[in-house]
Parts: sequence; structure tokens; C-alpha cells
Amino acid sequence: MPDKIKHLPQELINQIAAGEIVERPASVIKELIENSIDAASTHIVIKMEKGGTKLISVSDNGIGMSSRDAMFAFDRHATSKISSKDDLFNIHTLGFRGEALASIAAVARVRLKTRERDSDTGTYIEIEGGKLINNLKIGCPAGTEIDVKDLFFNIPVRKGFLKSPTTELGHIISIVTHIAVPYNEVHLTLINAERGNRVLLDFPPVKGIEERVFQIHGGDVLEKLVNISGSTDGCSIHGLVSKPFLTFNSKESQMLFVNNRSIRNPALSHAIQAAYLDLIPRDRHPLVFLFIDIDPGSIDVNVHPTKREVKFRESKYIHNMVIDTIRSGLKAKPITEVCVYTGEFGSKKYEVHEGAGEILNKEIEFHVQEISEGPYIRILGQIGALFIVAEIDGDLNIIDQHAAHERILYDRLKKGHIYGRVDSQGLLIPETVEMTLDKAQILLQYIAPLNRLGFDIEEMGDKSFMIRAIPVTFAGEDSGTLLTDMTEEIMEWGLSPGKNMELITTENIIKALLSKKACHSAVRAKGLLSNGEMSSLLASLLKTDMPYTCPHGRPVIKRFSSEELARMFDRK
Ligand SMILES: Nc1ncnc2c1ncn2[C@@H]1O[C@H](COP(=O)(O)OP(=O)(O)OP(=O)(O)O)[C@@H](O)[C@H]1O
Ligand SMILES: [Mg+2]
Repeated sequence: MPDKIKHLPQELINQIAAGEIVERPASVIKELIENSIDAASTHIVIKMEKGGTKLISVSDNGIGMSSRDAMFAFDRHATSKISSKDDLFNIHTLGFRGEALASIAAVARVRLKTRERDSDTGTYIEIEGGKLINNLKIGCPAGTEIDVKDLFFNIPVRKGFLKSPTTELGHIISIVTHIAVPYNEVHLTLINAERGNRVLLDFPPVKGIEERVFQIHGGDVLEKLVNISGSTDGCSIHGLVSKPFLTFNSKESQMLFVNNRSIRNPALSHAIQAAYLDLIPRDRHPLVFLFIDIDPGSIDVNVHPTKREVKFRESKYIHNMVIDTIRSGLKAKPITEVCVYTGEFGSKKYEVHEGAGEILNKEIEFHVQEISEGPYIRILGQIGALFIVAEIDGDLNIIDQHAAHERILYDRLKKGHIYGRVDSQGLLIPETVEMTLDKAQILLQYIAPLNRLGFDIEEMGDKSFMIRAIPVTFAGEDSGTLLTDMTEEIMEWGLSPGKNMELITTENIIKALLSKKACHSAVRAKGLLSNGEMSSLLASLLKTDMPYTCPHGRPVIKRFSSEELARMFDRK
């Protein structure tokens, strides 16, 4: 038998490698902008035609290249950014593999013009399908311009996979926006060269993420975001996340950055979802700009050709840190409580800065009381024995009283659990519940956490349980029904022994207890209420961590500011 294995020609090797990096026009743009940023540019202009399939041109005012470097730039594994194995785990630049330009040049017609600032002459290089066509000295502005024409001209199959120019443009806009957020001090301009050079995106330099988010989404969105931050040794997390009433039906709008590199990471996405677990409906997603700054030695960015994936050495730790950071940003700690209330419920602005000391804290308590009990709440009435209409701090508010009550009970149970102050009520006569075998198996998993919430449940035999006490919040409920209904609710989530065990969280147990079926206490709020009852319900609601949504994610309050009301009636 003749030998079968042959070495592939270099040209084919390059095309195969290019295939991994250059998937579509947006990937070319990503690589070129990243190079411009690594070259310390302050203004980057991106032009494109036909969604980038015909032309992509990226020019910058960065450090430029010498004529020798310009030649080497197109060699595979030629880079100015790392030089040893140690450097690979200490990466401070966006590029490091020396592969992008070689890959792009292997599958398109590329022209490069570049000049270093202190050099009189610049360099012009033309490469098509990996073959050098021209290399000249020219006069050109300082910085670098790279034109990429006819992407995949030499790989028709690949070209066939490209989507319509509009779809490709969508990807381009997404890539440019993802780079614009962390590099907000850089001016980025995206131009459609077809239609008289129409400017599609223009992000002049700003100071910080918030201003960039304002440029992208506008003020209406920005005011619905809260700052988050947290840090430990070697890792800090910061960013902006949406308050629970601003959600989207996909995760597309979430941006994750590790050391300013835009990445995708299922564990981080899961952490975000977990942080919002009891705040928004399961099928909705918050808007998130999450930045993780971490010692480059604790991550590996060399796991995927597009460098959009990152491996964390301590992934579980980071996962939990993300949850904690988002939760504490969203949670109304005394200090943020005031801001949240005034931001959402009123026109009064209290300037409160974190760490401003005890005097301020006293003032805060005072304000909170003033807001929750004082003249800021005025009950206007009730609609259909279901909704409370109230003026809160000058704004019109409609409150779903059942959802409000659910939120209050949830908060009480959870706070009691966290601070170890669970008030439980002993039953005069302990109750015994019999369950079917499958339900009993589920309940067995939950006994310990339920007991921490104020129950006193003991397993009596294979299918029966003795209930001696229940949390005061559920006083008057039929304890057997409460447990059976709760177990059924949990079964509906698809939990069975050994499966989906991560669902056994305090939040989820409380949610199951408060599910419509199980909890009559919450439903009891349905009905006619006196003004006094409504006031105290609202006061308690405003004291909860998260008054806007119920634990199942439904809205609790709809607010109409006086400005909005004026707009509705054409008064500006
Ligand atoms: N816009 C630019 N300005 C100045 N130098 C550049 C520019 N673009 C590329 N270079 C130089 O060309 C080299 C090769 O670029 P290329 O993108 O191929 O690799 P890289 O950025 O080093 O690594 P990676 O493949 O991970 O992107 C870079 O290391 C840099 O020295
Ligand atoms: Mg690069």
C-alpha cells in the first residue's frame, strides 16, 4: 500500500487557519479595531460597503509601523505583543497571537498604508490571497490604514455562507459597540461608504462607561441602570445593570468584559440570571454591562481562535462574586435605598455618598421614614379591589396589591432567614402529612432549608412528616396543604432527586411557598382595603429590597411621573 499522509501546501494551511479567525466581515473589523487600539490610537474610522463583503477599511492615528514591521505583520505568528511563554499568561493587549493579519490577507485583497509618527516616509503593501503584490515607500498620514476588499474572493464556498449585507451590518454594529463601551476614551466612527459616506455610528471620546452607555442607549435607559462594584484580592468587578423593571427578551444586550476584552461565558451569564432570579420573570433578561478586571495570570484567553472566550482559574469563585456584586448593587442598602426611592418615586433629590459617616446615616433613616410614612404617600383610592392608586412623592402610582403583598412576605421571610431572626409559630397540635412517594422524596431534600425558614418539620416514616411549627408569616394557613402545594410547585420546575438540585436555594423555596397555589396569605390581600391598610401596605412595600417586581417577576408598581402626565395631555 502506498503511504497516504501528505503535508498540505502552505497556502491551504493559511486558509484553514484563517477560517477559524475570519468568520465574517465583522470578525475582520474586530481584529483591525483591536490592532488599532493596541497601537494606542485615539481615533479609529471604520468604513464599509455592502455589509463589509465588498470593502472594509479601518484607519487609525496610532503608532504606525516601520517598513520592516509592516512586512512581518502579515507573517503568521509574527507579533510585537508577546515574545515568550510567560508572556502568554500575562497579556495586557487585545492581540497576542500574530495571526489576524495573516489570516485576513489569506482570504481577501488587502492594502496597508502605514507611517510611524517620527518617520518621513510611509509604507504601502498590497497582498491578495496571501501573495505579495506590491511593497512601496509612499507618503501617507501618521498611523495605519488597512483596506480589505472582496472578502473570501478565493474561497467561493465561504463567500456563499455570508448572509445579506443587512445581517452582516448588524454584526458589524454589534462588534463596534462592544469595543466602544470599554474603550470609551477612543473616538470610534463607523461609515457606510456606499451612500455618500453616511455616518452610522459616531462615538466621540467620553469619560467612562456611563457616558458611553448614554451615547448608545440614551438617557431613558441610563436612568434605569444602577452601578455595581465589588472587589477582592486580584479581582474587581464593576459595571451597570438594569433595575428589575427594565428587561429584554434575549441576552443579546448583555455585555461581558474581562480585562476590557468582550467575551462570552456561560458561567457568567448564569451568574447574571441567578442574581435576578427572584426579581424578573424567568424568560426575561436584564441589560448588563459587566466588567471583570482580573490578574491576567488567573485567566486563559488562548482558548478560542476569536479570543472571545476566557477560562477562569477560579471560576466558581468569580461566579459567586458576580452574583454578590449584582445583588448588592440592586439591593436597597440604607444608602442606596434613599436614592432608589427618590429616583423612582419622587422628585426630591438627596445627595447621598457612600461612606459619608454616621451623621449622614441618621439623616438617611430619617428620610426613609419620611418617604415611607410621611406626607409623600397619599392614597387616592382602589380599583376593582385589586389595585391601589396613590400619589407617591408627586407621581401617580398604580400598585398591584396582591403582587405588593407577595413581595413584602417574600422580603420578610428572606430577611428573617438572613439575619437568623425567623419568627415561627408552634402549632397547638402538631400536624402529620402523608405524601405520595415522589412528593415525599422531594420534600426530604427541602426539610433542612425549610426548618431554617421557621418551619419545624420532622420525617416520620417513608412518606409521612410531622409539622410542629410554621413561620409566623404563614400563621393561619393549613400547614399540610402549604407543604403539599409547595412540593407540587417544585415538581413543576422539573426537580427530582439528583436532578436540578441547584434549584434548592432559599429564594426558590420562598418563591414556591408564595406561589399562588400554596400561599393564601398573599392572596388574602385581594379584596377591599381601608385607606389605613393601603397606606401601611405601601409603607411596607417601599421598605422592601425590591419594590418594583414581585418574586415571580411580575410588576408591582406602575408609575407615571408628573412630567409624563403633562406629556400625555400635550402640556410640556
Ligand atoms: N493598526 C496597527 N498599528 C500599528 N501596528 C499594527 C497595527 N495592526 C497590526 N500591527 C502590527 O502587526 C502585528 C501583527 O498584527 P496581528 O493582528 O496579525 O497580530 P497581533 O495583533 O499581534 O495578534 P492577534 O493575531 O492575536 O491579533 C501586531 O503585533 C502589530 O505589531
Ligand atoms: Mg491583532
